[in-house]
Amino acid sequence: MTTFPESFLWGTATAAYQVEGAWNEDGRGPSIWDTFSHTPGLVANGDTGDLACDHYHRLESDLDLLAGLGVGAYRFSISWPRVQPGGSGGLNEPGAAFYDRLIDGLLSRGIAPVATLYHWDLPQELEDAGGWPARDTALRFAEYARLMGERYGDRVHTWITLNEPWCSAYLGYASGVHAPARTDPAAALAAVHHLNLGHGLAVQALRSTAARDARMSVTLNLHHVRGVSEADAVAVRKADALSNLAFLGPMLEGAYPRDLIEATSSVTDWSFVRDGDEAAARQPLDVLGVNYYNPTLVRHWDGSGPKETADGHQDGAASPWIACEDVEFVRQPGPYTEMGWNIDETGLTELLLRLHRDYPGLPLMITENGAAFPDPVGEDGLVHDADRVDYLRRHLSAVAEAIAGGADVRGYFVWSLMDNFEWAHGYAKRFGIVRVDRQTMERTWKDSAHWYREVVATGKLPE
Ligand code: FCB
Repeated sequence: MTTFPESFLWGTATAAYQVEGAWNEDGRGPSIWDTFSHTPGLVANGDTGDLACDHYHRLESDLDLLAGLGVGAYRFSISWPRVQPGGSGGLNEPGAAFYDRLIDGLLSRGIAPVATLYHWDLPQELEDAGGWPARDTALRFAEYARLMGERYGDRVHTWITLNEPWCSAYLGYASGVHAPARTDPAAALAAVHHLNLGHGLAVQALRSTAARDARMSVTLNLHHVRGVSEADAVAVRKADALSNLAFLGPMLEGAYPRDLIEATSSVTDWSFVRDGDEAAARQPLDVLGVNYYNPTLVRHWDGSGPKETADGHQDGAASPWIACEDVEFVRQPGPYTEMGWNIDETGLTELLLRLHRDYPGLPLMITENGAAFPDPVGEDGLVHDADRVDYLRRHLSAVAEAIAGGADVRGYFVWSLMDNFEWAHGYAKRFGIVRVDRQTMERTWKDSAHWYREVVATGKLPE
């Protein structure tokens, strides 16, 4: 029987743009995702987050849903353009009041609020002024963090500055499959840096405004990169530097890895990194958030034959893998989820053990893990998602194995509480443990929700 530590934090996760809706209500400003989803052809089926799960108007019943699951924590994100519409200036009071209700509603139900400041919804005004490739966005982000610390700092349990800056920088500015749909590799690397800098400045701003015991964190979608053979070690190193060390380096060690700078020298000279920036990006963290869905397999590419690009994100014309012309991303053996991502929980154990080895003393938390499956509604009106239960069971076992191996993992958040707007895939990909009917907005527990409730209640994986 797999048992988790008594203090283990069990939760579910969502993000503002994916669930809230109410995109133009109560003074909310437009974000880059409003612009993106309203541009014909960019999101599957022309879906938008205008309504999403209508969570903005269904807050109380969604809070009850969380209470019914028995989770100890809920990871949500604050929509920057809802609380500070143009990304500068004072607070938009009605928008800010929504998060008061959310946070207080969690606390009154005994659920710890875990707040992400940035889950990809940059105020459009800031993008118009240059977006993340512009240094000023990092400074604006720090100011926004300070406002959030002042407003909610007495009540938030854990602050997560950024969600997956890898996606923000590389999918947003290099491959263009995410907002703001730019395909400019040099801009993407500048975005990497300003996200790192913004993170560091935001942690400083939060430390000076939030409660003393508030935990500081960032969520990274670290890639567990494997090579097809030993001969691919250089390719592994390159992909690892670009995807992992580009963030772990400055944030945890105060420096970009030298080989990253060298590998990308034909794209940029990194002159946007000013003296003191790397030190500012490195702030003591209380816990590192890890999002994991599947591992990455690479091979050196010598230019002959067709190149594989099966990294799970390359549906755009341009690659998110800057200066990786000699690296191919190899399709991995199944089974696969609806995203086409292979199911391999061993990567999660290995990744957690690596982090434990490379950054000893830094607690870890799985801030996202989960899967999209077809989820047909049965004749009984329910979703019997045995495939999702199996995915979650495998990955929780993998977490337990890492803990047994010494990794200090403090919690786990299922992605996601409910089916929601899956970015460029729209509503076609369902990740929820709770089903959302797109017509009626009705929430229905899937089998996985019942299963997860038992895990949370017992701290054990059922046999
Ligand atoms: C992650 C995102 C999250 C969700 C999952 C499936 O990259 O952080 O919002 O879309 O993937």
